[in-house]
Amino acid sequence: MTTPDLTVTVGGLTLANPVLAASGTFGYGLDLDDLCPPERLGGIVTKGLSPEPRAGAPMPRIAETACGMLNAIGLENIGVEAFCREKLPVLRERGVTVIVNVFGASSGQYRDVIERCEAAGGIAGYELNVSCPNVSSGGMEFGHDPALLEELTRLCRDATVKPLWVKLSPNAPDLIATAQAAAAGGADALSLINTLRGMAIDPYRRRPELARTFGGLSGPAVMPVALRMVYEVHRALPGVPLVGLGGIETGLDAVRFMLAGASAVQVGTATFRRPDAMLRIIEELEAYCRETKTSRVASLTGALEEI
Ligand SMILES: Cc1cc2nc3c(=O)[nH]c(=O)nc-3n(C[C@H](O)[C@H](O)[C@H](O)COP(=O)(O)O)c2cc1C
Repeated sequence: MTTPDLTVTVGGLTLANPVLAASGTFGYGLDLDDLCPPERLGGIVTKGLSPEPRAGAPMPRIAETACGMLNAIGLENIGVEAFCREKLPVLRERGVTVIVNVFGASSGQYRDVIERCEAAGGIAGYELNVSCPNVSSGGMEFGHDPALLEELTRLCRDATVKPLWVKLSPNAPDLIATAQAAAAGGADALSLINTLRGMAIDPYRRRPELARTFGGLSGPAVMPVALRMVYEVHRALPGVPLVGLGGIETGLDAVRFMLAGASAVQVGTATFRRPDAMLRIIEELEAYCRETKTSRVASLTGALEEI
């Protein structure tokens, strides 16, 4: 068999392979350069960027859990200005496909980040992290209120012609309603899932392990939930491209997400355990295609057989 074709198209973007680094777990793409050169990936999703730099939450902000981890980083980031000045030129020169993950405390802040990136140039697309409280509407998370989410997506849609992805929260009360709202607002694709809200307790100190008490659960523990959500959204909105993530550690995990309906996948927590995890996943995906005589990896999307 000839070499399998690993290219995929997702939400207006063609990627050399379907494996992207997930936001917040690969810095700004260059921290692990010697172990995982970013240009070998389908793309990178940056750490969430806000208009101004943020220091993030107090320590401890990470706790290990069974088959996963909890984090409450508090959206620490260098701010969009420093990203465009210090990181973006290197990524651009290296030919890395860069998706900027965007967040803000108001819809205006989201738009601000996009506008400043547009002015800098060289960005392939945007992913909105909607798991943040909207300060101007009383702290309700954007991703929990379909009307708010549609309005935010539309505002960002108007700021760019580049691919716009919306990353859904698994904690929202109605997954399908939020997916529909993001699509109605003009999203080109939906990424799912972000972390699941949880907590860990130290029995001897009799305290929560995280300084902020609650954190986001990620890693293999969340994969069945993430697969179910990708599958449900794909069935409810078959025309909307999806990017699947949550606990992916192997090429077969990536295949599972694609069969459920994802056009591409992201890998987060696995990189903390093995910095070269994504390169291995790409190799394993290719091996799976050879083994199963799949000439185009893109043909796996939504190819799940019903029982
Ligand atoms: C330490 C850490 C930081 C994260 N920061 C962000 C972020 O800034 N923006 C975002 O949309 N998701 C963020 N996430 C969520 C991941 O991108 C991903 O959705 C989640 O971890 C599930 O994938 P995984 O199980 O492969 O890690 C973060 C996750 C971790 C573990």
